Amino acid sequence: MEKNNIYGKYRPTLEKIMQDLSDQITAYNNEEKKRMGVSVYEHLTARIKTESSMAEKCRRRNLPETPESALAVLYDAIGIRIVCNFIDDIYRNLHHIKKFENCSVVMEKDYIKQAKDNGYRSYHLILEVTAPYEDVLGNNPGKFFVEIQLRTIAMDSWASLEHQMKYKKTVRNQTLIVSELKRLADELASCDISMQTIRDLIERS
Ligand code: GTP
Ligand code: MG
Repeated sequence: MEKNNIYGKYRPTLEKIMQDLSDQITAYNNEEKKRMGVSVYEHLTARIKTESSMAEKCRRRNLPETPESALAVLYDAIGIRIVCNFIDDIYRNLHHIKKFENCSVVMEKDYIKQAKDNGYRSYHLILEVTAPYEDVLGNNPGKFFVEIQLRTIAMDSWASLEHQMKYKKTVRNQTLIVSELKRLADELASCDISMQTIRDLIERS
């Protein structure tokens, strides 16, 4: 397969699905802002996984580097990240997303209640979105997967730091760095809980 073509003719469809879902999320946030005066999240980012990372992931999983692997076997070609001020907001967003009629949850991982061993925290959802476009299996309306990550600002800054570290395998003091990162993740988690507690106090007063 030629390079830079792992999504084949579905690339524009992926862009549309990503935009439509981002719009749906922005819409409930605007409603909540009008109703409650505050946003449900701080910011939202969306991306299509780069062709090279997708090809690399297929190789890692022993899958052929095809649109079928990228879109029907793997789930994270489209990714949306919702970054929240407070832990409760994560579960508020979940509540809204689970009401989307065009979406169903196919996988759910709560790495907040159960953090990864390295300290990683976030709530992950894999959605199956039904949309009026042809999918890789030839169905129209088609089904498309989207990975949604929900996290607080603290979890997001930790993940970004840890991500940078992963790509610097040559550094010395790996063991120390890993354990310091874990300690930092736990400290940040405790800050998130304090932030939530203070917010609850303010709301109740
Ligand atoms: P892949 O990691 O994508 O192969 O899939 P998986 O089945 O392991 O899914 P998982 O839900 O564990 O992770 C999916 C995504 O979450 C990753 O691509 C990252 O964006 C993020 N993520 C998961 N674990 C970590 C972590 O330890 N550190 C950081 N920085 N990000 C993570
Ligand atoms: Mg992983």
